[in-house]
Amino acid sequence: MDTLVPRRLRIAVFAASLVLPALAAQAGNANYYQQFGGTAGMRSLVDAFINRVVADPRISAYLTHTNIPALKAALTVQFCHLEGGNCAFSLNMHAVHANLGVTQAAFNALANDLYITMDRRMIPVAAQNNLLAKLASMEPQIVTR
Ligand code: HEM
Repeated sequence: MDTLVPRRLRIAVFAASLVLPALAAQAGNANYYQQFGGTAGMRSLVDAFINRVVADPRISAYLTHTNIPALKAALTVQFCHLEGGNCAFSLNMHAVHANLGVTQAAFNALANDLYITMDRRMIPVAAQNNLLAKLASMEPQIVTR
């Protein structure tokens, strides 16, 4: 069998088996970004999400001195990056939150606010779960208390 398949073809098939799943994963993420409504949808989602967070008594004390428009802008880029929208984002979440003393309860409250905001906007459940899972994976970098 080995001799019937040219070596170059076997190498090409092997290379494709490595590259195609990565491309598929990227396409899947890009598809999620579309499910969030692309750039305009994501900006609008983050706007509503942070408005909810600022008004949430479980979290608001953390944000008294925060530049809210700047926070919204940074989060919009980060969520775009996470959901395959081809945005460059490289802020270190541990460094950004290191001095804030974020508790597990506050972290959960923020995730809950995001879930409510996404659900009210009828974002497809798979896309919601994808973003929530990515935020959940950052918890060890953000919760310090
Ligand atoms: C996975 C969850 C979270 C993500 C992805 C996230 C992401 C971010 C980002 C992108 C920034 C902007 C940084 C900058 O532009 O310098 C930021 C800042 C901030 N975050 Fe978070 N955050 C999360 C959870 C939380 C939680 C749970 C709290 C508080 C309860 C919180 C409080 C803040 C505050 C107060 C700032 C402003 C810091 C400053 O102005 O120096 N974050 N966060």
